[in-house]
Amino acid sequence: MASHSARVREERDDDHDDVRRVVSAAFGGEKVPELLDGLRGSVAWLGLSFVAEERDRVVAHVSYTRAWLDAPHKLVEVLVLSPLSVHPERQRVGIGSMLVQESLRLLEDRDEPLVFLEGDPGYYARLGFVPGDQLGFARPSVRIPEPAFQVATLTGYDQSAMSGALVYPDVFWRHDCVGLRPER
Ligand SMILES: CC(C)(COP(=O)(O)OP(=O)(O)OC[C@H]1O[C@@H](n2cnc3c(N)ncnc32)[C@H](O)[C@@H]1OP(=O)(O)O)[C@@H](O)C(=O)NCCC(=O)NCCS
Repeated sequence: MASHSARVREERDDDHDDVRRVVSAAFGGEKVPELLDGLRGSVAWLGLSFVAEERDRVVAHVSYTRAWLDAPHKLVEVLVLSPLSVHPERQRVGIGSMLVQESLRLLEDRDEPLVFLEGDPGYYARLGFVPGDQLGFARPSVRIPEPAFQVATLTGYDQSAMSGALVYPDVFWRHDCVGLRPER
């Protein structure tokens, strides 16, 4: 694999335009940048947003936002990793993996015990994620393929108290960014 010189840091306010460009280039369109705009302006936003910077240029971004686990005894606040973007010119050199691993480390001691995401299990398994159903969690939509619904546990995870369905905040639904829809 080619090398890189990126380093991970917290996103700053003056990164927003650069981040938006990276997200748009990575996902090829405005849908995901608009989701990120929506997240920033919603109750889901916790300011947990990180960038990878290489030679003073933002080349990758990831955000973690608030969601809920509908557990038997109470609603548990959890995190959702979304979106994750690496600029197409800098993909497949290890930057995305480093960004996820280092940002997860920075979140390790937060109160939220779990980080959920939708994504390719081949990619995220190496980064500490396991299929959600393996730990007793249910998808927020049947349009998320079972293997794509994944979770990583943080320090506060308590297996005996934590099972149930992930509940997304409305912003994911308003932007129709949950699961897959058949290709038109
Ligand atoms: C997916 C993404 C974040 C990966 O970041 P990255 O920096 O390119 O990945 P890394 O360099 O850390 O890891 C590379 C390895 O991951 C795997 N990989 C990379 N992209 C992948 C993808 N889309 N699906 C599955 N595996 C992938 C490959 O095995 C690759 O190794 P290889 O080049 O030896 O085959 C990046 O490609 C991206 O931004 N894609 C567009 C947006 C997107 O799909 N985001 C994730 C949504 S869940």
